[in-house]
Amino acid sequence: TLIRGRTLSFRRAPESIDDNAAYSYESDGALLVENGLIKAAGAYGTVKAAAPEGVGEIDHRPHLIVPGFIDTHLHFPQMQVMASYAANLLEWLNTYTFPEECRFVESAHAERIAVRFFDEMARHGTTTATAYCSVHKTSADAFFAESLRRGTCMIAGKVMMDRNAPQGLLDTPQTSYDETRAVIADWHGKGRNHVAITPRFAITSTPEQMEVASALAREFPKLHVQTHLSENRDEIAYTCELYPEAKDYTDVYARYGLLGPKSLFGHCIHLSEREADAMGETGSVAVFCPTSNLFLGSGLFPLRALTRRQKPVRVSVASDIGGGTSYSMLKTLDEAYKILQLQGERLNPFESLYLMTRGNAEALSLADRIGTLEPGTDADLVVLNMAATPAMALRAEVVNSLADELFLLQTMGDDRAVVETYVAGRPAKSTLATH
Ligand code: GUN
Ligand code: FE
Repeated sequence: TLIRGRTLSFRRAPESIDDNAAYSYESDGALLVENGLIKAAGAYGTVKAAAPEGVGEIDHRPHLIVPGFIDTHLHFPQMQVMASYAANLLEWLNTYTFPEECRFVESAHAERIAVRFFDEMARHGTTTATAYCSVHKTSADAFFAESLRRGTCMIAGKVMMDRNAPQGLLDTPQTSYDETRAVIADWHGKGRNHVAITPRFAITSTPEQMEVASALAREFPKLHVQTHLSENRDEIAYTCELYPEAKDYTDVYARYGLLGPKSLFGHCIHLSEREADAMGETGSVAVFCPTSNLFLGSGLFPLRALTRRQKPVRVSVASDIGGGTSYSMLKTLDEAYKILQLQGERLNPFESLYLMTRGNAEALSLADRIGTLEPGTDADLVVLNMAATPAMALRAEVVNSLADELFLLQTMGDDRAVVETYVAGRPAKSTLATH
């Protein structure tokens, strides 16, 4: 298939709003898609000339085609936790989140929510997500089975947690080891599924379970590791009480060998200089979750302080559903922009789009497959309309640059701006039953 429209993708992070060497843009562009892959990309005329005789064409002009959005941290069993009224992280976890996650012991429930999860991803233009399932293997099975059906590239893990939560949400060091191994055996490399080793956070794992996470990370060095770090002051204080021998919160994970280039740490809002150095030196990724950080009152992610260092900390962006308040990566970056404004910093619209696409792909070490429109990569795409609502259309009348268009999409856009989502070359939004 030939997919025609204005195409935009990044080869690297833009250094400023004028850094047009960071991206490729075609005002009349096209992608030739075959067997789920991008075969050719560029100007419409050139791509058309290279396409087989009689190739089918989908014309998305005047809309903008970019790589599918990537969300590097969210919780699949928290779709029905969104918008829960709590004062802070620990109250929110104990009052709403833990009880809700208990329901995922039931396969029927997990399967129903998985369908809705993948529908919501498609609706919002997110083609890859890095997800926490619940502690129950049933939840990971439901998630990965649905991902396999949809053909999506997903990273997810059965959560490991063996203390400080309701009985229905606890495993043990041994069962967390056995079940994580079973999830890896059943799902890793099936379709485009990747399994992540997922100790929830230090508060809900005993040292014995952290040893197990450590052993799994050594046994499966290519897998991602994901957990939470330094989100909330009370969380940090409690963690330091539970692990008195650690220098600080980051050192708890470091002691178990969990820092590294495949490790994703949700939040990282209140890191000390020492902790930021440890993150930078190990190539660990700090995941910025703007809507969640505002909603739970956790704090302002110090993006520039983390990236402007001798050893920069790698960063990615994420919704953190259900602490987050929107599935939309556009809305997520809108709130990220405001968080930087409050710190006297700027986040330019090119950097934002880079972060949602190629930047997040690089954070996941998957930039050779996703987050790009390079030939040979997976045809995960999103088509965006900057005039999707009456208010957007009115503003769009006076937009006269690509930067303005991207900023309008981010500031006023959401799922309504997503005209179509392609997963491995197949339309995934227009084909939804509830479209
Ligand atoms: N820390 C540990 N678990 C969670 C969670 O589910 N959401 C958030 N935002 N932080 C956490
Ligand atoms: Fe989270």
